[in-house]
Amino acid sequence: MKALIDRLNAEKTLSRAEWTALFAGFDDETREYAAEIARGIARARFGNGVYFRGLIEFTNICRNNCYYCGIRAGNACAARYRLTKDEILGCCARGYAAGFRTFVLQGGEDPFFDTERLSGIVAAIRAGYPDCAITLSVGEMPRGDYEALFRAGANRYLLRHETANRAHYERLHPDRMSFDNRMRCLSDLKAIGYQTGCGMMIGSPFQTPECLADDMLFLRAFEPQMIGTGPFLPHHDTPFAGEAPGSVELTLFVLSLCRIMLPDVLLPATTALGTASEDGRRRGVLAGANVIMPNLSPAARRKDYMLYDNKATGGEDAAETLSVLRAHLSEIGYELRVGRGDYGGNR
Ligand code: 5AD
Repeated sequence: MKALIDRLNAEKTLSRAEWTALFAGFDDETREYAAEIARGIARARFGNGVYFRGLIEFTNICRNNCYYCGIRAGNACAARYRLTKDEILGCCARGYAAGFRTFVLQGGEDPFFDTERLSGIVAAIRAGYPDCAITLSVGEMPRGDYEALFRAGANRYLLRHETANRAHYERLHPDRMSFDNRMRCLSDLKAIGYQTGCGMMIGSPFQTPECLADDMLFLRAFEPQMIGTGPFLPHHDTPFAGEAPGSVELTLFVLSLCRIMLPDVLLPATTALGTASEDGRRRGVLAGANVIMPNLSPAARRKDYMLYDNKATGGEDAAETLSVLRAHLSEIGYELRVGRGDYGGNR
């Protein structure tokens, strides 16, 4: 196992059979070995700095019905909300004052926020905060819409691929969603010039070691600038309510392998990881992650953006208590790094 990790570090790739063997057979020792190498790579590139991004969850209305997600259209129990443009700009103002230099606008695929409306919001943030990066995370669109939003001033786009295995994808999503369209979106985003993020859930229902192998092969070929990955966590009002949560250890192992394979990648220690385990995010940083995304949404709305049960919303997750996050990171020898934190910007 250690020999495979050494070879990944040297050659930055493995075969599908080797990836599968790693995921099927890893133990704590292998995981810690990978974490040590990954941490060294991250330290060499980013020092002890962790970038922080302000997450603005501006709508929980979604036309899609992903089986895992708490804000799926079919969940009649979700209390739905949309932020107004002024509320979104208010989040940016609070965030800027707190030191944030990246704003991540994340939402469901809400038809109300069509390209024109969204472009207006992006342009207003761009005008108000010329020194900040704007990241969008609003799902699948035609290429022309991605281009319009890029012209309006967006710099980055997060669209998790969720799984790179087609058969697996089809078990996580209803028929009207397509693996091919997801992949088309990702390649359009990258071609347009967005710093593009993809990513998968760890331990989602029906995931096998082969699925994770396909994820690693896809990441190798696609070379995203960012990878968002966290454990699957069940939500009680979804078809996957009774499924087991993904493993924190496997998530940490995947983070380390991503860092080793793609040394410059921007790799968040996600909210799901912090929800699954109280010290999950710190362990994520020690496994090679270098980004944390505290929540900048209005506090009263946070409980309604419930993608999975018990999603963390306070303490180190909240933008107004960055001091908590700072203290937690300093315990492990890391600090928050102010700045946009662009891909490759550390070189
Ligand atoms: N558990 C973990 N992650 C989830 N996401 C959605 N639902 C869940 C869940 N139940 C992730 C998806 C999506 C991102 C915004 O949140 O990967 O792309």
